[in-house]
Amino acid sequence: MTPRSLSPVSLLRDASPPVQLRQGRTDDAEAVLRLITAHADEGHLLPRTLGELRARASRFVVADADGEVLACAELAPLSPQVAEVRSLVVTPEARGQGVARRMVAALAQRARRDGFDRVCAFAHDPMFFVQLGFSLVPHQWIPEKIAVDCAGCALFRQCGQSAVLRRLADCDAAWSGERPAAASALVLSHAS
Ligand SMILES: CC(C)(COP(=O)(O)OP(=O)(O)OC[C@H]1O[C@@H](n2cnc3c(N)ncnc32)[C@H](O)[C@@H]1OP(=O)(O)O)[C@@H](O)C(=O)NCCC(=O)NCCS
Repeated sequence: MTPRSLSPVSLLRDASPPVQLRQGRTDDAEAVLRLITAHADEGHLLPRTLGELRARASRFVVADADGEVLACAELAPLSPQVAEVRSLVVTPEARGQGVARRMVAALAQRARRDGFDRVCAFAHDPMFFVQLGFSLVPHQWIPEKIAVDCAGCALFRQCGQSAVLRRLADCDAAWSGERPAAASALVLSHAS
């Protein structure tokens, strides 16, 4: 049998260490800050400080490849019912491999376990979240965010961010972040 030939690209991929998701630790804070700072403009990300990232390290999920932090995302509680996915970044070299999808799914599972019933996010380009089954909603549907962050922000009412929301009851316990079967999930009915 002829051995299967491998392109240089697949050889490189095969040689890469596996990417594992884990909860953030205090000693990840510097790497997480570097990731967020390097992609702040691209992702219109909220600036973060090292002290804040250290204090909130356990809220994060990070993607770790042989000790190197390639990606991060935080689950920040806004109220007992609603938590926000924020500071979501994947280093360019690790994009397009489902890392962000897995991190958002991991945070949604954590939110569900912790008793939240909705997960939201705010993004300039919300289509990544829509792909994952989040719905575009008016900001007023997430008054917790307005009270916690927006009201005191200089860009209040002109920030250009779209709000997206996903009800956790709509995800099964082992939600993998797969695309919803129908695009009908695009806009939620305002039930609660
Ligand atoms: C957006 C970002 C987090 C995506 O990370 P990623 O690991 O490449 O995403 P995934 O590989 O998990 O993609 C999951 C799905 O979303 C899609 N997707 C990824 N980025 C997208 C985007 N910007 N817009 C629309 N869809 C997107 C992918 O095509 C994929 O869909 P598919 O499985 O049907 O092909 C990454 O590009 C990034 O860090 N950007 C800079 C910071 C940023 O914009 N953060 C988000 C702020 S809200």
